[in-house]
Amino acid sequence: MTSAKISVGEKDYELPLVVGSENEVGIDMTKFRAQSGVISLDPGFGSTGSCQSAITFINGEEGVLRYRGYPIEDIAENASFAEVSYMLIYGNLPNKTQLEEFSSKLTQHSLIHEDMKKFYEGFPASAHPMAVLSSMVGSLATYYPEKDEDGFDLNIIRLLAKAKTIAAFAYKRSIGQPFIYPQNNLSYCGNFLNMMFAVPSEPYTVDPVLEAALNKLLILHADHEQNCSTSTVRLVGSSHANMFASMAAGICALWGPLHGGANQKVIEQLKYIQRSGEDLQKFVDRAKDKNDDFRLMGFGHRVYKNFDPRARILKKSCDQVLSKLGVDDPLLDIAKKLEEVALNDEYFVSRRLYPNVDFYSGIIYRAMGIPTNMFTVMFALGRLPGWIAHWYEMRQDTSTRIGRPRQIYTGPAARDFVPVAKRG
Ligand code: CMC
Repeated sequence: MTSAKISVGEKDYELPLVVGSENEVGIDMTKFRAQSGVISLDPGFGSTGSCQSAITFINGEEGVLRYRGYPIEDIAENASFAEVSYMLIYGNLPNKTQLEEFSSKLTQHSLIHEDMKKFYEGFPASAHPMAVLSSMVGSLATYYPEKDEDGFDLNIIRLLAKAKTIAAFAYKRSIGQPFIYPQNNLSYCGNFLNMMFAVPSEPYTVDPVLEAALNKLLILHADHEQNCSTSTVRLVGSSHANMFASMAAGICALWGPLHGGANQKVIEQLKYIQRSGEDLQKFVDRAKDKNDDFRLMGFGHRVYKNFDPRARILKKSCDQVLSKLGVDDPLLDIAKKLEEVALNDEYFVSRRLYPNVDFYSGIIYRAMGIPTNMFTVMFALGRLPGWIAHWYEMRQDTSTRIGRPRQIYTGPAARDFVPVAKRG
């Protein structure tokens, strides 16, 4: 099987097939419109591939997720976020020297320019940290314009290193505490926790349980092929926009509650259910009711139709982290019961709706002391290496064209302009 045939009216068009390394098959439609004058229409892109990519493989039917060929279960258990970032961006796991060099650069470039601290004064203290993160990441373009290949590699480091500082500073600003500067003796995750939770007047030691939990969470979020935010990054980057600008756009796309913003909504929903004291079935019934806009947040996925392997890892991790930290969170019990009720309900079973990565992640973040409105920022920190890897892959590929979908126009047909005086 090397080609597909599409008939439009009386005419047949033979189109080449593209086969991926895991035998996924796509019809190459690039020349189709030029040949036929007809476009493919697929709002939401459920049946449309936007690129060929060697970064991440997902088999949604079987719950498989691999970064550069490595199963997510292995990486989440054994790797560091720094090495996963390197592997996603450069294609292979780093050797010892490469990892040391990369990690040390990630530490050395953690400081943000002192002038950038003034930007925080311009935002209201109540600003959502995702708005702050996207603005601050976009503003990095003013300090570090792209010049050459070296500049690009260095800018990758700068972005990864500074994003965690920007995020932690946003939190400190929101609670009126002084900024805590990054420290060179700490790991990526340790540094972030220190900047979030240390205060100048007291010694703070990073808890290894929190550090390991954060490392795992960031790895689980690190890439997920052509999701909404990654596609945004690629689309913006396809116009050859600056890397920081493309990342800022990705952060905005992630913020939405149907995407990364779901982790915040899950906790808000669980609290709402807890406060109501009502039976869980009532909320499941509301989620099924097409006249009610209530949805079970943290449920369902465009690609996973069996289970989300990240959610499976997180559910286990949730029990472990809470028990290690000695936290007893009633929201965890509600979440588990809600999952049970939903997974035994015909509506959820027939639509193959399962808990996704956002369902249990918030409960771990809560136990770690991270406030709810920072959850999506945590997702963004984790997703950065994935966005960078896709941006880099796209820009290295000289055959990439600007992303420019077409449409089917449904507005009025041509009509005459009537001057305002004659319009009555
Ligand atoms: N609660 C109730 N019904 C749902 C839900 C849900 N969470 N998710 C999907 N459905 C129903 C939907 O109403 C539709 O029903 P019907 O066939 O009768 O019209 C059917 O399931 C298919 O849903 P869809 O909206 O067409 O699916 P999609 O692929 O366009 O959307 C989704 C995927 C994740 C946006 C959606 O499942 C959803 O809104 N989930 C809640 C938000 C959420 O948890 N988002 C995080 C996604 S994972 C993190 C990430 O990578 O972004």
